Amino acid sequence: MRINKYLAECGFAGRRGCEQIVLAGRVKINGKQVTNLATTVEENDLVTVDGKRAQPIHKHIYLMLNKPKGYITTTSDEKGRKTVLELLGNKFSDKRIFPVGRLDYETEGLLLLTTDGDLCNRITHPRNEITKTYVAKIENEVSEDELNKLRAGVILDGVKTKRCRISVLGFDDKITRLEVVISEGRNRQVRRMFETINREVIFLKRVGIGELKLGGLSRGEWRELKPKEVEYLKNV
Ligand code: URA
Repeated sequence: MRINKYLAECGFAGRRGCEQIVLAGRVKINGKQVTNLATTVEENDLVTVDGKRAQPIHKHIYLMLNKPKGYITTTSDEKGRKTVLELLGNKFSDKRIFPVGRLDYETEGLLLLTTDGDLCNRITHPRNEITKTYVAKIENEVSEDELNKLRAGVILDGVKTKRCRISVLGFDDKITRLEVVISEGRNRQVRRMFETINREVIFLKRVGIGELKLGGLSRGEWRELKPKEVEYLKNV
């Protein structure tokens, strides 16, 4: 098995994150440093990362969290901001749990966390086009013409966004509430899509990933995924 896949199965990160760990020279096989991504791990090899033994995890953890705003979705932060892992308490402090994809600092809602690097890789891989559903709030009314521009795709970083679905959920107190369903996961995608039509997203919450729904989970709370939810994610 390739070294990055092996490390992902050990729960270090998704496969691409594990490539970075290898390239950074943190990995040894049988005491010898490896930085070549083509390296394979054979049975009985002793693999270490930063000197600690890497062993495949057989019983993975799968969680759903309702991320509040003001938390970052990395496992540590050099600026000392709060991370989503702090919301899990001590229960998993000895496990290498990491967030599946990102939600930006100001965004709240459904975030998956797992020890399963392979699953993380599958969900976040652009090829899978798994849908993400957001509720977004924008000041004042938003016209159908404006929404049609976003639905058809707008240019972000020189690349057009895929077609997406946007429906108006309501208009109260001079705020438009929208449901936005995208099938990509580009950095700050929803906020930046609205920036292209000179509109600011003043509230953003993810409420669904594929068929998984946030449901009634309160802000800051988490729960383990049900077996059928894990099964669904393994087959997307
Ligand atoms: N789009 C954004 O703008 N932010 C997120 O966190 C997710 C999608």
